[in-house]
Amino acid sequence: MSPVRKAVFPVAGLGTRMLPATKVLPKEMLPVVDKPIIQYALEEARAAGIEEFIFVTGRGKTLIEDHFDRAVELFDTLAAKGKSEALAELEAGIPKAGEVTYTRQQEPLGLGHAVWCARHLVGDEPFAVSLVDDLILGDSPCLGELAEAHGRTGGNIVATMEVPHAHTKRYGILDPGEIDGRLVEAKAMVEKPEPERAPSRYAVIGRYVLLPEIFGHLDRQEPGAGGEIQLTDAMAQMLGARPFHGYVFSGERYDCGDKLGYLEAIVAAALRRPDLADGFASILKRYD
Ligand code: G1P
Repeated sequence: MSPVRKAVFPVAGLGTRMLPATKVLPKEMLPVVDKPIIQYALEEARAAGIEEFIFVTGRGKTLIEDHFDRAVELFDTLAAKGKSEALAELEAGIPKAGEVTYTRQQEPLGLGHAVWCARHLVGDEPFAVSLVDDLILGDSPCLGELAEAHGRTGGNIVATMEVPHAHTKRYGILDPGEIDGRLVEAKAMVEKPEPERAPSRYAVIGRYVLLPEIFGHLDRQEPGAGGEIQLTDAMAQMLGARPFHGYVFSGERYDCGDKLGYLEAIVAAALRRPDLADGFASILKRYD
């Protein structure tokens, strides 16, 4: 069993890059094929052995709570019509009562602040953080790979991948030390550096396993890049004191906060679906 039992999903962000779709609809509820983006993140976390799902929401995000609730009338109707397959899929997609909790980030002060808002719900144990915009598709759940790596190192683990040099200013970037297979020791990290200041191309992707000490650093964290309280800055304060690694995860990551990334996620997810792959591939051929 994974020793990482809880996952925090910061979902308070406004999704301005996907307007006007996100004017009313939370960006996490945008569909990728026939499931909202957030459903993929929950299923990945569950496949990784996570038992408690903590959503840090904000104003206008109540649809997320509704989505993870039992829709009694709908379930009854599906049952009455004998649509047992659709019903079973819906049932499987929602957390059981008591597995999910919601708290609010009352002000948009940054990712570090959003994670800090979950401190009482996490308590004193290692926990996962999943940034839902980063949709990761693969044969093994990314968070599971991180939890397993955490089991080996006992320290903090962030998902990482190499990005084009010109893109470093979109990410937290690691200054790598020793590299052992997929484990990349982090000697330092910096949030959104210009390419000329970036210590490497190893970008932090939105999956983390963190030690609870992070909350002490977040308590004292001053605003950083973009005037926001950055998770990266608080993580950087644990360097040296505790093992800290990037893990080059095995799946493919799609940035669903970006229009092209979102479109690619839909294509990739559809092509992974046995019921859609062939039909969709022949449609795509028409657009070559
Ligand atoms: C956040 C983190 C950044 C990380 C990125 C991954 O940035 O602050 O370190 O590389 O997620 O998606 P955001 O995309 O929220 O600006």
